[in-house]
Amino acid sequence: TTVEWEAESYDMGGHDTYMHKEIHEQVDAVDRVLRGRIDDRFSTVRLGGLNLDAREARGVRRVKILGCGSAYHTGLIGAQLIEELARIPADAEPASEFRYRNPVVDPETLYIAVSQSGETYDTLAAVQELKRKGARVLGVVNVVGSAIARETDGGVYVHAGPEVCVVSTKCFTNTAVAFALLALHLGRIRDLSVADGKRIIAGLRKLPEQIAEVLRGEEEIKKLAAEYANAKSMMFVGRVRGYPVAREASLKLKEVSYVHAEAYPASELKHGPLALIEPEVPTVAVLPDDDLLEKNRATLEEIKARSGRILAVAHREQEKADHTIVVPRNEVELDPILMGIPLQLLAYHTALALGRDIDKPRNLAKSVTVE
Ligand code: AGP
Repeated sequence: TTVEWEAESYDMGGHDTYMHKEIHEQVDAVDRVLRGRIDDRFSTVRLGGLNLDAREARGVRRVKILGCGSAYHTGLIGAQLIEELARIPADAEPASEFRYRNPVVDPETLYIAVSQSGETYDTLAAVQELKRKGARVLGVVNVVGSAIARETDGGVYVHAGPEVCVVSTKCFTNTAVAFALLALHLGRIRDLSVADGKRIIAGLRKLPEQIAEVLRGEEEIKKLAAEYANAKSMMFVGRVRGYPVAREASLKLKEVSYVHAEAYPASELKHGPLALIEPEVPTVAVLPDDDLLEKNRATLEEIKARSGRILAVAHREQEKADHTIVVPRNEVELDPILMGIPLQLLAYHTALALGRDIDKPRNLAKSVTVE
């Protein structure tokens, strides 16, 4: 599929900032990453540029995803999706760490470089090092024809359209969807059933409307942002599917509002960070309605017992939380994609309440093309 970026102009379209514009563009952006790719006949997806045939896909023993910042966080979501849908062991690592540690490069591992700009130096350097050692490297990239897109052996374009704000929003979401497509594709070549393929496809098709539904709740999130904007620090927690969402939301808040934030797997709280919990340090808890919900509720109790305030992102009202942002339910594997979106709005409205320069946060550049 080719996508016309001109269709989405650079003008502000009535929004005050690019960040706000790009958050609201997600309905169309997600529609675009799906367009022309779903193959209902075989309950799978077609990924034209992947350059990995079925026999090669079956030979993959492990997947390693590399990226920086938000791209790395989408890699954490991608690794979970690939493990769940394709049952291939997968993990993600910051590209910078990978390239500096003389990694063991394994011929049966599929490496995936993920980047919005396709120009991030650390990610590009990791790709070049992998290629030099004879590895197969795919790209999950937004900017068509960028350095990482050119240097990888094939991949999946993210089709988010141009992202101007330094802080990534629509590209984060679209990249996570691109990983869902890749995971579904690998899964259907391996052991994912037709019924599960259909289930995931139906979930993917629901995403644009569900994103629109989340965005309709913006006024409520704006009020919550005003309530939490004076926090000394914010704690973000999640378990398994919720954890990458918590990490990304924490980064988003830091980047755009300069409010200090930490992200932890919920189960790690009791191993130290609980010491930070006090009324001035609220917790944002990401609680998908999966088999870990009860465990997550126990975490909320631990926080309450230390008089911490809690903002939950969940599929239904959480009585242990002070506030809940209710997000529509999709398939459990796809829930992290939706749960990130209200937290983009939370970061945006916190920054707005604090009078920050939203599109150009201090000390940051859109893409880091130096070491
Ligand atoms: C996103 O909000 C950040 N500005 C940053 O972490 C970014 O994701 C990172 O620098 C990687 O950029 P890339 O996706 O263009 O490679």
